[in-house]
Amino acid sequence: MTYTEKDKQYKRYTITSALPYANGPVHIGHLAGVYVPADVYARYLRAQGEQVLFIGGSDEHGVPITIKARKEGVSPQDIVDRYHKIIKESFAELGISFDIYSRTSSAEHHKTAAAFFEKLYKEGKFVEKTSMQYYDEEAHQFLADRYITGTCPHCGNEHAYGDQCEACGTSLNATDLINPRSALSGNPPVMKETKHWYLPLDKDEEWLRQWILESHKNDWKVNVYGQCKSWIDAGLQPRAVTRDLDWGVKVPLPEAEGKVLYVWFDAPIGYISFTKELKGDDWEKWWKDNDTKLVHFIGKDNIVFHCIIFPSMLKAEGSYILPQNVPANEFLNLEGDKISTSRNWAVWLHEYLKEFPGKQDVLRYTLCSNAPETKDNDFTWKDFQLKNNSELVAILGNFVNRTLVLTHKFYGGKVPARKALTPAEEEVIRELATFPERVGRSIELYRFREALGEMMNLARLGNKYLTDTEPWKLVKTDPERTATVMNLALQICANLAVLCAPFLPFTADKMHRIMNLPAMGWQHAGSADLLMEGHTIDQPELLFEQIDDAAIEAQVNKLQESKRQNELNAWQPAAVKPTVSFDDFGKVDIRVGTVLECSKVPKADKLLQFKIDDGMGGRTIVSGIAKYYTEPEKLVGRQVCFIANFAPRKLKGVESQGMILSAEDKDGRLVLVSPSDLVTSGVNVG
Ligand code: 2FM
Ligand code: ZN
Repeated sequence: MTYTEKDKQYKRYTITSALPYANGPVHIGHLAGVYVPADVYARYLRAQGEQVLFIGGSDEHGVPITIKARKEGVSPQDIVDRYHKIIKESFAELGISFDIYSRTSSAEHHKTAAAFFEKLYKEGKFVEKTSMQYYDEEAHQFLADRYITGTCPHCGNEHAYGDQCEACGTSLNATDLINPRSALSGNPPVMKETKHWYLPLDKDEEWLRQWILESHKNDWKVNVYGQCKSWIDAGLQPRAVTRDLDWGVKVPLPEAEGKVLYVWFDAPIGYISFTKELKGDDWEKWWKDNDTKLVHFIGKDNIVFHCIIFPSMLKAEGSYILPQNVPANEFLNLEGDKISTSRNWAVWLHEYLKEFPGKQDVLRYTLCSNAPETKDNDFTWKDFQLKNNSELVAILGNFVNRTLVLTHKFYGGKVPARKALTPAEEEVIRELATFPERVGRSIELYRFREALGEMMNLARLGNKYLTDTEPWKLVKTDPERTATVMNLALQICANLAVLCAPFLPFTADKMHRIMNLPAMGWQHAGSADLLMEGHTIDQPELLFEQIDDAAIEAQVNKLQESKRQNELNAWQPAAVKPTVSFDDFGKVDIRVGTVLECSKVPKADKLLQFKIDDGMGGRTIVSGIAKYYTEPEKLVGRQVCFIANFAPRKLKGVESQGMILSAEDKDGRLVLVSPSDLVTSGVNVG
């Protein structure tokens, strides 16, 4: 049984993609990890004629949002309004074909999440526990999750959070942190009693073990299965699903004043609330019928929440189906370094769309062909250029363009008649018929890179066919054979228009438009009779264009600039040196001198040679500041501070009798130190 047949038992597909936090725009890491593969999957299933619900939305709760709001002096609602808009619009522009893209601050979501909690509460599915938790006495607030920072007990990172260490990826409890500090006041916190509701995951261990480790041993990805196994093997602990915060879904209990649902409790319920928002009364079958296939697309940091916690919530509620698969990707790095929002080391989608207008498919192609499906991967701008120029332009674009141009040249844009076939052509037709299944099967197995590669193999087959038959030469000697060749090449183009659509929807639309193709389902592909003889093709247009070195260099420079800015932002004054006595200090003879002459030292890029009036007949000092003072003659008359009793030394053949003082700014620039008012040359500084 092929996977295609196996999936026929499903009547509909509920496809969810992780809800990005609305505290920043989305970047290529999000896209490669979650949204591009999810979109390919959704588009493919729709092309297969399946009923699909593809859900997305912004995750608008959680501590990072409130921390950002506090830093900027605005409300959390202001923050999520700002980023929800950017995220939603940029996804739409990239062609991520959500059926709904909503947000967890919506009224429907608050109602649904609160009702979900209430049902579990009433049915006694939670454990109530009073415990001591960190509290900031100055801010009068409990310190949930990221409100507390400290040293990670596993790797020693001094900036670990109360819920997770980002350096080593370990999930933490606030009380695990060494030397804890409040992120609000910076003070050490105190312990204070508080009550919370816990999901007793320890009681779910048995069915989770059976459901994941046995039933899904063979169809879940190795990385997903492996993470679940290590969580389950380590023994599951009850998890608090409420927090002492004022931003989030209020806990719907009279005794829970000042408490909200934990963001990871409410966010996945967002998938359900958004379904209700879109489908109204018709929502339930998408979540409750056994003939619905539920698939969660996520990044690897979300595995435990989607494979263990959310399924436990759904199971506790009792009326929901569980996910059939959770195809999580690993992480995408950028130019060899981890993508980081706080360090601005990222390619932001909304910026890409502005800087590469009309090139949505180039990004979709690059990210899909380089998706971190089985291991972390690296995005480089050079590779982006190569994928565009050597694959999209040189393989797919070239084949389609050659075929369409020749069709216009030879037949005025009309599809010519296909006559007798050679054995090689019969083989081409046989092979063509295998592509829908090859591409589709890989997509159904969540192997999107492989699927994309198969689609490109069809373009390669087309190119090889043209190269082997050379219709541009053949036309002079055998018009009938040429017509056959061009007919078949056009059929391959039409097939490509259908098979590239899940990956490259903009290109597919363009091909459909140019070739006047009606909308076609996946089941039509594979046929060598998609275009009838005499069918008219419009004027060809290039599908892709070369990306030149200058565009790539600009992007690399932009990243370098961002790295430089980060280094500047990270600057801190150097640690103070060991204490010296007054006598020690007194040994250094610092004086003010006036510059009499100043010029570059020949054959030394860095050195300036000063003639200084030191009140004692003058002296020469060589200083390594030439890079920062490119017009040395302009320094004449300026007063500088110098060490008068520095042992003389020769620099590039010039004897330097002292040392001129300069300050090194945080970008490494050296600036001369001068008295603020004119003083007599030779006086002491001290
Ligand atoms: O990791 C994240 O970005 C989360 N906001 C994902 C939430 S997915 C779902 F549960 F809503
Ligand atoms: Zn750590």
